[in-house]
Amino acid sequence: METISDTLIHALQSRYATKRFDPSFSISQENLHLLKESIRLAPSAFGLQLWKVFLIRTPEFRKKMTEAAHNQPQFMEASELFLFCRPEKITEDLIDQFVTSVSKIRNQPKSTLVAYRQMLSGLIHNIESSEQGTWMEKQIYIALGSLLQSAALLQLDACPIEGFNHNAVDSFLGLPEKGYRSVVACAMGKRSPEDAYASAAKVRYSEEVVFGIL
Ligand SMILES: Cc1cc2nc3c(=O)[nH]c(=O)nc-3n(C[C@H](O)[C@H](O)[C@H](O)COP(=O)(O)O)c2cc1C
Repeated sequence: METISDTLIHALQSRYATKRFDPSFSISQENLHLLKESIRLAPSAFGLQLWKVFLIRTPEFRKKMTEAAHNQPQFMEASELFLFCRPEKITEDLIDQFVTSVSKIRNQPKSTLVAYRQMLSGLIHNIESSEQGTWMEKQIYIALGSLLQSAALLQLDACPIEGFNHNAVDSFLGLPEKGYRSVVACAMGKRSPEDAYASAAKVRYSEEVVFGIL
């Protein structure tokens, strides 16, 4: 019987940045739900979840994204295309939205969360406004990692994609009007038997190189 360790190591070794997907494959609703949960349940600084993930399904948008990404075929061929976005800036409304959720979910009257809200607002104002975008993006990459890991465990194939013209993509998707900026995409589905990258050996530094003890 396969142990959890076997399952994990096999998933980590068999995943790869898939370049060619089988366009006839569709992710099941059950797996799509699990993938969404792996994003939704990802950790973020203070738990603020300053992200929005769009599933790009409109063929015209997929085509335009391909063009904005040096014609990478994943955009057209993948079953689902996740586009991780961050808010343009961190507003007081976003902090309020979070504190309201804490109040509802943990059953704490908002009046008991005034100091907590002030603390959050103060901590965020301490981050230079020019650094706030990078700060939000770092957390989006954690959610991306969680999505990639879950995909591998579900025996789905994925490719994280940063290599696209963000301004062009944001513009035709109307993201500025919605108050968001694109950060990174993730194409998801099943590898095509034609994808030569599937059999390429993994290039990874050894444990000795990657880890040290201090
Ligand atoms: C943040 C990020 C952005 C990436 N952007 C692209 C991309 O635009 N196109 C692509 O084909 N692969 C992209 N990759 C995949 C990497 O090239 C790939 O993960 C790396 O070469 C290691 O190979 P492996 O994932 O197949 O083991 C990206 C990976 C990460 C983590």
